[in-house]
Amino acid sequence: MCGIVGYIGEKDAYPIIIKGLKRLEYRGYDSSGVALLNDQGLTLYKRKGKVSDLEEFTESKDKSGSIGIGHTRWATHGEPNDVNAHPHVSGDGKLALIHNGIIENYASLREELSNRGHVFHSDTDTEVLVHLIEDVRKNTDLNLFDSVRVALNEVIGAYAIVVLDKENDDELIVAKKSSPLVVGIGEPGEFFIASDATPIIEYTKNVVYLEDEEIALVNRKGDLKIVNIQNQPVTPYIQELELQLEALEKGGYDHFMLKEIYEQPRSITDCFRGRMNLNKGLIKMSGIDSYEGKWKNAKRIIIVACGTSWHAGLVAEYLFEDLARIPVEVEYASEFRYRNPIINEDDIVIAISQSGETADTLAAIKLAKDKGAHIFGVCNVVGSTISRETHSGAYTHAGPEIGVASTKAFTAQVTVLTLMALTVARKKGAVSDEKYHRLMAELSTIPDKVERVLQTNDEIEVIAEIYKDATNALYLGRGYSFPVALEGALKLKEISYIHAEGYPAAEMKHGPIALIDEEMPVFVIATQGPSYEKVVSNIQEVKARKGKIIAIITEGDKDVKGMADHYIEIPSCDEVLMPLVSTVPLQLLSYHIALMRGCNVDQPRNLAKSVTVE
Ligand code: F6R
Repeated sequence: MCGIVGYIGEKDAYPIIIKGLKRLEYRGYDSSGVALLNDQGLTLYKRKGKVSDLEEFTESKDKSGSIGIGHTRWATHGEPNDVNAHPHVSGDGKLALIHNGIIENYASLREELSNRGHVFHSDTDTEVLVHLIEDVRKNTDLNLFDSVRVALNEVIGAYAIVVLDKENDDELIVAKKSSPLVVGIGEPGEFFIASDATPIIEYTKNVVYLEDEEIALVNRKGDLKIVNIQNQPVTPYIQELELQLEALEKGGYDHFMLKEIYEQPRSITDCFRGRMNLNKGLIKMSGIDSYEGKWKNAKRIIIVACGTSWHAGLVAEYLFEDLARIPVEVEYASEFRYRNPIINEDDIVIAISQSGETADTLAAIKLAKDKGAHIFGVCNVVGSTISRETHSGAYTHAGPEIGVASTKAFTAQVTVLTLMALTVARKKGAVSDEKYHRLMAELSTIPDKVERVLQTNDEIEVIAEIYKDATNALYLGRGYSFPVALEGALKLKEISYIHAEGYPAAEMKHGPIALIDEEMPVFVIATQGPSYEKVVSNIQEVKARKGKIIAIITEGDKDVKGMADHYIEIPSCDEVLMPLVSTVPLQLLSYHIALMRGCNVDQPRNLAKSVTVE
């Protein structure tokens, strides 16, 4: 995780860096820091806490300089404090470095360097790296660019770094492996460096995404020189950003999370627009069409993902098995690679990731690729590492998701996965014409249905007020609603810090029922569908133990309405599409509860949006 920003050009570096760090704060907010070069030499400010704490700290201090680097940290090595904050400085005080990633062999490097007289002040792996670069430069005739490359040859792990030399305000050196890094090309002699394009977008649309093990030098003459770690030259590939600045603002909402929840009718539409043609009765998924044979002959689909994306993967398991009749396994990406999984060439691996940077998902992809499987990516961030590592894929087109808790990305993922399952089912002849066309038509009505759920916000707020002080909560669902229960529980726990568990409703009697008493809120997705009657029985089991039932029900339902302590009515739809609608009230509920508990909704404690460490 961590966010990095660098600037070189004619403008004042500090405001550009601070603004950029605020955009990247979703990547971690344990501490932040900047290093600037000016007439006084190297000026370094570091602070535990958020970027706003750093801003306060530097308020009356000298912040001049037209070259600088900045960092916002999600702590890995060493507790979040001022000392462990980046930038880190070499022993001779000449180099300042910011880093996103983990240097896995930092302990042995640190020992070696200590034996050679290096003294360390922090607990971080990053300080070791800047000392290593210093050591190479001191003991060879190499310039800084080559010293960085030689030092990185000794490093095992992940890094996106920017190095600033106190004695040379003409250039910055950057490098990356397994952590993202973008170079923006501004006016002649002006460059912006960042973990993603969001700090760059208002200055330039021309960017170069560095590839793994590439090292670049940017300077005031306007040079952008790139080599790989073997010192072979690389020609920069300049891309044009499509991102819009407005998408990065709150747009009148109090929080990004709320804005993103309310964006869902639009984001779901954007996801199927251009792919689904109702008049022609066609879905066009070019990532599937170009590999039609592979999909038709796939013996198995393996889905790898983490967190909310993993929950979308669980919905996809129901979709692909139900509609396309292909067996599906859904794997936590972090577990998948460590158990020597059996992967065959006729397996298709679907990697789902909002950020497209999740290290565990990336590692799972690499393993599956090595074993010959076809890899399909479902990513939100355009140009992200996962989207580039896969053989083909489909973007979710949800737009930037800035709230750390994933909301619109989930519904967009489920929309793409629904389109994929329908496409493959159609190609295989596994779905009837009637069902295919009916589901397509119904999918096109989902944005309106989500809009109607959003109109129940005030009722949801009233329910939130009643349960805001709960210490535990259970979420129950069956079939397609089981992943929704898991997602509802994750949303509540991550932003309100209430302990919450999601369970298949019928599994409750095998253990969790012991937890139920009059204090326990039980959120049940009890919409109409094949398992409705069974869920009604499960509700009765909870009621018999005095648990409080908050039910998500289909409009017009009478039975559950009569039993539940509280209910939220949502429009009816086929159970295949229900997760797209039934997730939304649970997102709103978590949002309101977290807000009432005084939690930081957009930046919950200990979390980061883009988890680039394994
Ligand atoms: C939960 C959440 C996380 C992410 C997970 C995977 O709200 O946001 O659980 O879903 O870290 O991230 P991506 O989808 O970027 O791979």
